[in-house]
Amino acid sequence: MGEPDPTGRFGRFGGRFVPETLMPALMELEQAFRDAWADGPFRSELDKLLCDYAGRPSALTECHRLSAELGVRVLLKREDLNHTGSHKINNVLGQALLAKRMGKARLVAETGAGQHGVATATAAALLGQECVVYMGEVDMARQELNVFRMRLLGAEVVPATSGSRTLKDAVNDAMRDWVATVERSHYCLGSVMGPHPYPWMVREFHRVTGTEARRQMLDATGSLPDVVVACVGGGSNAAGIFSGFSESRDVDLVGVEPAGGAAVGHGIPGIVHGMMSYLMQDEFGQVEEAESISAGLDYPGVGPEHSHLADSGRARYEAVADDEVVEAFVLLSRTEGIIPALESAHALAWVSRERAALAGKTVLVNLSGRGDKDVAQMMDVLADRL
Ligand SMILES: Cc1ncc(COP(=O)(O)O)c(C=O)c1O
Repeated sequence: MGEPDPTGRFGRFGGRFVPETLMPALMELEQAFRDAWADGPFRSELDKLLCDYAGRPSALTECHRLSAELGVRVLLKREDLNHTGSHKINNVLGQALLAKRMGKARLVAETGAGQHGVATATAAALLGQECVVYMGEVDMARQELNVFRMRLLGAEVVPATSGSRTLKDAVNDAMRDWVATVERSHYCLGSVMGPHPYPWMVREFHRVTGTEARRQMLDATGSLPDVVVACVGGGSNAAGIFSGFSESRDVDLVGVEPAGGAAVGHGIPGIVHGMMSYLMQDEFGQVEEAESISAGLDYPGVGPEHSHLADSGRARYEAVADDEVVEAFVLLSRTEGIIPALESAHALAWVSRERAALAGKTVLVNLSGRGDKDVAQMMDVLADRL
């Protein structure tokens, strides 16, 4: 998983499909990222924050009871243990430091489940930046706790009221804000999507997960895993962990999408949010609404590098249904004492479903986040079972 080509493409995917007014900002951002990434002091400052503030390296946990139950050796990369409860903080600390370096004191962000919004509000508080987060009205209702956390951290949360009132609409509103305020704002995009350089830059900020996981797997088991599994919304936690193993051809890379938002599984190439990628569309090319039990995966597209990994056959993408996700959410809680985010439960649901095919293999699952934010929603879903 290397650099995109000079036009920002991974194979035929990616690029920069934006209004002319945004081109200078994207070019400025690309140059700023290239300079910062090559700059020792910037990298040291980020590494220090990831370590002292976010709690990296995150643990690698061997799941003895779950493995016995499934007949598959399962290890978890514990991004749920990061400060703010998910992988999102890796990318946000990088982008917030970059914004500071670029002299931009205002962060604009979109959020689905609220984890990226919470991470952005957190970084903004840490670095003394102004923060505005766009969030679909529907997501605000199902993730009330995260809305409160963002406000407590000093961010303004603005409801996105158009379309399906979920993540896609929040991205539209955040982009519109950025166009109008680009002189003083940085758009802190939350996944490996959007126009170049975001998909590449965000993957590089998440590479730390894959680098750590590779070393930890070798230390813990003496070899690389047979399979690496991660859930895919836009695809940032998957890109982060895949990047540690993509050069090792024997390692199978599996991205798990929700059945109601399977951009790679059911999509056709199209343009959304400034990028060319697999996208759920109707027969007229209109973007179809995604539907998932987890707000963080409720996105009709996918980052362009995943489309390329799918096309080239380096990774495969599978879909799981909401009821399988609920079972996995309960299974990990009961067997390991870890309540996963509903997003991460998608990856576990696939492992559980495929346990016969995976028998005897070693599977590394990226546990992208913890489930505290989902507990209120699951109290309703599981009301007659608990
Ligand atoms: C815990 C968690 N995992 C995964 C995702 C999906 O994002 P991505 O596919 O970019 O990792 C989210 C998004 O909100 C999330 O909160």
